[in-house]
Amino acid sequence: MAHPMLVADVSGDFASAVRAGLAQAQKVIPARFFYDRAGSELFEDITRLAEYYPTRTEIGLLTAHAAALAAAVGPGRAVIEFGSGSSAKTPLLLGAIRPGAYVPVDISAAFLAESAAALGARFPGLPVLPVAADFTQDFRVPAAIMGMQRLGFFPGSTLGNLAPVAAVDLLRRFASVLGAGSALIIGLDLAPGPGKSVAELEAAYDDAAGVTAAFNLNLLHRINRELGGDIETDAFAHRALWNPDLGRIEMHLVARRALVFSAAGRQFAMAAGETIHTENSYKWMLAEARMLAMASGWAPVNSWTDADGRFSLNLWQRDDARMQP
Ligand code: AVJ
Repeated sequence: MAHPMLVADVSGDFASAVRAGLAQAQKVIPARFFYDRAGSELFEDITRLAEYYPTRTEIGLLTAHAAALAAAVGPGRAVIEFGSGSSAKTPLLLGAIRPGAYVPVDISAAFLAESAAALGARFPGLPVLPVAADFTQDFRVPAAIMGMQRLGFFPGSTLGNLAPVAAVDLLRRFASVLGAGSALIIGLDLAPGPGKSVAELEAAYDDAAGVTAAFNLNLLHRINRELGGDIETDAFAHRALWNPDLGRIEMHLVARRALVFSAAGRQFAMAAGETIHTENSYKWMLAEARMLAMASGWAPVNSWTDADGRFSLNLWQRDDARMQP
C-alpha cells in the first residue's frame, strides 16, 4: 500500500498542529495529517483515478527503463526505500537491479511489516531488513548492509509536499545517510508544459468522482473524530489550483459561508470564502530538478520522462567531489 506520510502523526502532534495552524491569518493544516486509515485508503483510490496520472506514469517509466537503471547502478546494492513499499513500484526496481539487500524505512510498523512480508515472499533470496523510523530524522541502518553501496529509492513525487528549503534539507539528509558512492532514484512530477496543461494538472487534484475532495475533507472528519471537533463538514468545499508563481498545486478547504466551530479545545471562526490551506504539491521543470539535486549534494546522472512530459524518473549520484576549479 502506498504510504507517502513523511512524519509521525501521533495525536498530540495533531492537536497542537491544528491549534497552531487554525490560529494563523492563513489557516493551515500540514498535509502529513491526511494519512490516517481512511485517508490512506482514499489516497490509494486517488492513485487509480483516470485524472491522477503520476502513479501509472511512474510505473510505466520504471518498467520501460528498468534495464537502463540496472546498467547504471549495477548489482549488489542495498536499496533503501524512504517510505516503505508501495505495492507495484518496489518489485519493479528490485526485479531489475539484483540488489544485495532491501531496507524499507517507514514510521508505521504496520506498513513496514506488510511491505516486508510481501517483498520477502516475492524475492526469496533477498535480505529484507525493515527499519521503523522517521526518515526526516537520523536513523541507524542495519549492520548487515555495512560495506554495501547504497541506492536510495524515493518514488511518487513525495518530495513535492516540501517547500524548496525543506526539500533541500531532506535531500542533504539522504546524501549523508546513503554515504559515499551512493545513488538515488527519485520520482518527481513535472511542471505544466506542452504535453501537460494546467487544466490537466488541476484535474489530477480535483477529479470528477470527488475522491480527492473526500481525501481533503477527511481532515475535517479526522478533527471531529480525534480532537472533539464539531465542524460542519458540509460547510466546506474542496479547491485545488495551480500557483504559477510558486510552482505548486495548492489544496484548500473553502468555507462556503461564515461559521464557528470548536476543535482541539479551542474556538475558531471563519468568514465566507476563507480557506484552510491543506497541501502544497510542488512541480519542477527538468532543469529545476537538476538544480535541486546539485543544491543538495547530488549530481544528476540521467532522467527519463514519458512522451507527454508529465512525470520524471531521475537517477542521481552522490556528489563526492571535494575539489572544484
Ligand atoms: C503523495 C504528495 C505525492 O501531491 O500528488 C494526491 C498527494 N494529494 N492528491 C501528490 C496527493 C492529492 C500526492 N503526494
